[in-house]
Amino acid sequence: MTDAAALQREFRNALGSFATGVTIATTMDAAGQPVGVTASSFNSVSLEPPLVLWSLAKKSLSCDTFCESGHFAVHVLAASQEDLSNRFARSGEDKFNGIEWREGALGSPVFDQHAALFQCKTRHLYEGGDHVILVGEVIDFETRDEAPLLFHAGSYAERRPRPRGEATESVDTEHGRFSDDFLFYLISRAHFQTSRPTREKLEQLGSSMEEYLTLAVLSMEAPLGQQELGTRLVHTGHAPSKRLLDLMTRKGLLVETDDRYDLGEKGRELFVETLAFGKGLEADLANHFTQAELAETKRVLRRLIELTGQDVPIGWRDN
Ligand SMILES: Cc1cc2nc3c(=O)[nH]c(=O)nc-3n(C[C@H](O)[C@H](O)[C@H](O)COP(=O)(O)O)c2cc1C
Repeated sequence: MTDAAALQREFRNALGSFATGVTIATTMDAAGQPVGVTASSFNSVSLEPPLVLWSLAKKSLSCDTFCESGHFAVHVLAASQEDLSNRFARSGEDKFNGIEWREGALGSPVFDQHAALFQCKTRHLYEGGDHVILVGEVIDFETRDEAPLLFHAGSYAERRPRPRGEATESVDTEHGRFSDDFLFYLISRAHFQTSRPTREKLEQLGSSMEEYLTLAVLSMEAPLGQQELGTRLVHTGHAPSKRLLDLMTRKGLLVETDDRYDLGEKGRELFVETLAFGKGLEADLANHFTQAELAETKRVLRRLIELTGQDVPIGWRDN
């Protein structure tokens, strides 16, 4: 390798030590075809007027189009959009094939999934060696509460927020007060809030959490008698009464033989529909976090379950 090539590689590596987000910049060519590139050179310039910049290699196929169109949109990518980033980093391919997009306020193609979107009028084009620097005035922008995709040292990365300063005392037993640093409060509140849409959905379907939990236990293990169901659900506060089991049998949710219960056809349908609804909610929420954050949250929750579950009945122990 020549000295010049080695020096250029070192320079590139040194620049790569600056961590950035990842964006896709888009515009429309003269024939009305959408054009886009992955760019990590995006940055803010000015608040008043609102200006942003990014730089584009002169050798990129889309350079002339970006310089001539008069407008561009910058999509700040979410952590879940690595594939999209790679697709728009491949020169010249039909990058928009199979992607849903619409024409934005200034004519640039815009897609709905992103962590932030800036629609810009091109205000200045500057020479920047082998790149052109595009400065755009932001005409419209929107943000989503999504974890961002990051890029550092030639690889994709995810954020890992630093813990907030000094922890405050989470519980003041003397005065009977607690702060939102109290772990049990956070777990309970997260449980109530994340399960609320499912509770409401069950109500709409003419059912309840009690019924759903009974169906959930029977989907894992059946048939079971009332006492066995009670043992498996007592720690949830929703052990089913005989009255409830009779009602569920009348509704076709359960089938009863010799005082033992199994899922009825309607019960299986209700369970599967509710489970799918919960999975959908989880997927929507997951977009707000990085893979690493989700993995760590699950690890901590599993450990809490393990530490507090010695006397929890079979069926729940190994989940
Ligand atoms: C994470 C990442 C960041 C990139 N940032 C830029 C950039 O800021 N400017 C640029 O010109 N190319 C950048 N590229 C490369 C372009 O996306 C790539 O050259 C693209 O193929 C150009 O498309 P085109 O030739 O179809 O116009 C980046 C690629 C990746 C994977």
